[in-house]
Amino acid sequence: MISTAITGITELVTCDDSTDDRLGIRPDAALVVQGGRVAWIGNAAQAPAADRQIDLGGRTLIPGFVDSHSHLVFAGDRSAEFAARMTGTPYDGGGIASTVSATRSASDDELRALIGGRVAEMRSQGTTTVEIKSGYGLSVPDETRALRLAAEITSETTFLGAHVVPPEWRDRRADYLTLVTGEMLDAAAPYARWIDVFCEPASPYAFDGDEARTVLGAGRRAGLELRVHGNQLGPGPGVQLAVELGAASVDHCTYLSDADVDALSAAASTTVATLLPGVEFCTRSPFPDGARLLAAGVAIALATDCNPGTCYSSSMPFMIALAVREMGLTPAQALYAATAGSARSLRRHDIGRIRVDGPADLAVIDAPSHHHLAYRPGVPLVRTLEL
Ligand code: NIG
Ligand code: FE
Repeated sequence: MISTAITGITELVTCDDSTDDRLGIRPDAALVVQGGRVAWIGNAAQAPAADRQIDLGGRTLIPGFVDSHSHLVFAGDRSAEFAARMTGTPYDGGGIASTVSATRSASDDELRALIGGRVAEMRSQGTTTVEIKSGYGLSVPDETRALRLAAEITSETTFLGAHVVPPEWRDRRADYLTLVTGEMLDAAAPYARWIDVFCEPASPYAFDGDEARTVLGAGRRAGLELRVHGNQLGPGPGVQLAVELGAASVDHCTYLSDADVDALSAAASTTVATLLPGVEFCTRSPFPDGARLLAAGVAIALATDCNPGTCYSSSMPFMIALAVREMGLTPAQALYAATAGSARSLRRHDIGRIRVDGPADLAVIDAPSHHHLAYRPGVPLVRTLEL
């Protein structure tokens, strides 16, 4: 097996919790990688001999980003909806139906090409792990297909048959829930690790707390682990439900009460609050206060939510810049949330940090420090390190 020494690293960001500083920054460090795994980390002057060398020339090395929330399986275009929103039309989830229609009409190969293009965008910006949800099929064959195609890309696949009630079931909500928690779940479960639900009483299309509880209970009985879309469009029961049921993550958290923050703080070892600042940006919603969450002891993650309705961005560096500018996080806190924090929201301890014996999921910032992720927004400084 060929070994590779990586040198010329001005700042090695390990995100390894065992160090005092949570980012675990090591100056003057080098790395040896062998067989896709990190074999050695230490002072560059002591680096062992390796078969080949990559000199980063003074750049920053970080763990690859973990994008723990995306909806990449979709066809169609909703840019006009975005444009209308920028001049005042509010978001209510109603546009999801048009994506469902376009996605159902696309062939497997068309969808594969669309997913592949989006994953390539992510990789080119430093993402090495992505979670992908279904949710634009909303029928037994279409949800199953979405998950089958997502599973070709990642093991972090999420069944979101309870995204919205599709138009043909609108007058029969209860029957749609029976389908989602029965036949659709049975067909989807072999391709999914997670189940998710859009718990949002403020949207006429999404699900209330009781409905969400039913969906999550059925998913758990089918062997899936739990995630929740909650408190996106207004205050609601999503956060409390996620905490009560021990979900791995509750995502959005745009509108949080004091009781929600207390509940997330008490549940920090179980439930992560995943912040999606691209959604606030693209829907003109208020940004939640990330600094307040951290001060309260809440475990947070950052992800893109890449989807055609509320945030069509695949860029984790952009999310970091927004979290720093608009959510009160330091660059270090935002980077940690986008790597180790996001890994934790997927209950993964192998990714999101750089440590000996861990996978060599690495990204390079073309700059001398991680501050540049937020300091130079929109500049393509980050790439995954292909070995
Ligand atoms: O995470 N909120 C629910 N689902 C997506 C948006 C879906 C869409 O509008 O297409 C989200 O924001
Ligand atoms: Fe989402």
